[in-house]
Amino acid sequence: MDSAAPTSTFDVRHNPSAATNDEREAAMAAPAFGEVFTDHMARATWTQEGGWGDRRIEPLNDLALHPGATILHYGQQAFEGLKAYVHEDGSVWLFRPEANAARLAASAARMALPAVSEEDFLAAIEALVATDRAWVPSTAESSLYLRPLLIGTEPTLNVRGSRQVEFLVMACPVGAYFPHGVKPVSIWVAQGYHRAGPGGTGTAKSAGNYAASLLPQQQAQDNGCQQVLFLDAREDKYIEELGGMNVFIVHRDGSVLTPRLTGTILEGVTRSSVITLLEESGRTVSERDVTLEELRAGIDSGDVSEVFACGTAAVVTPLGSLKSPDFNVVVGDGSAGDLTMGVREALTDIYYGRAKDTHGWMRRVG
Ligand SMILES: Cc1ncc(COP(=O)(O)O)c(C=O)c1O
Repeated sequence: MDSAAPTSTFDVRHNPSAATNDEREAAMAAPAFGEVFTDHMARATWTQEGGWGDRRIEPLNDLALHPGATILHYGQQAFEGLKAYVHEDGSVWLFRPEANAARLAASAARMALPAVSEEDFLAAIEALVATDRAWVPSTAESSLYLRPLLIGTEPTLNVRGSRQVEFLVMACPVGAYFPHGVKPVSIWVAQGYHRAGPGGTGTAKSAGNYAASLLPQQQAQDNGCQQVLFLDAREDKYIEELGGMNVFIVHRDGSVLTPRLTGTILEGVTRSSVITLLEESGRTVSERDVTLEELRAGIDSGDVSEVFACGTAAVVTPLGSLKSPDFNVVVGDGSAGDLTMGVREALTDIYYGRAKDTHGWMRRVG
């Protein structure tokens, strides 16, 4: 959808030490995820008295933070992740950014932070992409990853919502997630640790959930696996999601299953898009509780033919095996399944403008 430009304005303050063409090209040659940053960031400041103001694009620099800032002590924070894609004609597009704006508003509400309006969210990204247009990569499967961030910055050790908040958007050029072709990843089932509990912050995209996932993720690696799968905190029985991706199960009869949104799972934009695409192609997609036992038995019997995960960073990723101290099972023959690869292609064709955007999911930003 080629939507109308947002009306809020981010004034541009150019970076006097911006990278030279040669420096930028070297940095963009093979950028690892989240390691290379562009020259600028979008920024706005909120105070309890004045609300949002000082909307600007400024040089990407270290932040000056008082050591008593709320974010450093109590983790009052929310963030987002979305990407800008270059189409064949050189135009730049976002995928469903309104959904990310809505999720940031919901995360902010849960974290007692002020909401950023959809208009400011979109205007900040649009101005940043325009300022750092030279950093938007156009090689196959590359993109500009955008990281909006809200942090409480008031210097106070009182445990309450900050009366001063910064909204920032950073940008990172990223190459293909699987530069050597899509490869199934191995999964470790988290033992004794959960990502989020009932009434907690699982549906918010907020730092604490990710801090809680780091040790189990490390344990996955210690056990020879690439990613960790979390079970529910109440019964330690139902599958929820990976550290940064939602999970889908494909049956031999072609039906598809994904854990329902329980309040402890992050509602992925990719998840909802995958459900739409699958249903439109005539598949049945059930959203319900799924026990680890059911998944494992289905893989063992062959009733489950494919398992995949999805999210903005890796799009759609086949899961090749599932491991815990009690079992180690391979999904199908361990290779990427046809449905998994088909959904991946359908989504990437929309991202890169190779397929018609029949849902109005794409928004032009350059
Ligand atoms: C915990 C978690 N689950 C799921 C997702 C997938 O969400 P999305 O498809 O919006 O990127 C993410 C990534 O944002 C995540 O961090």
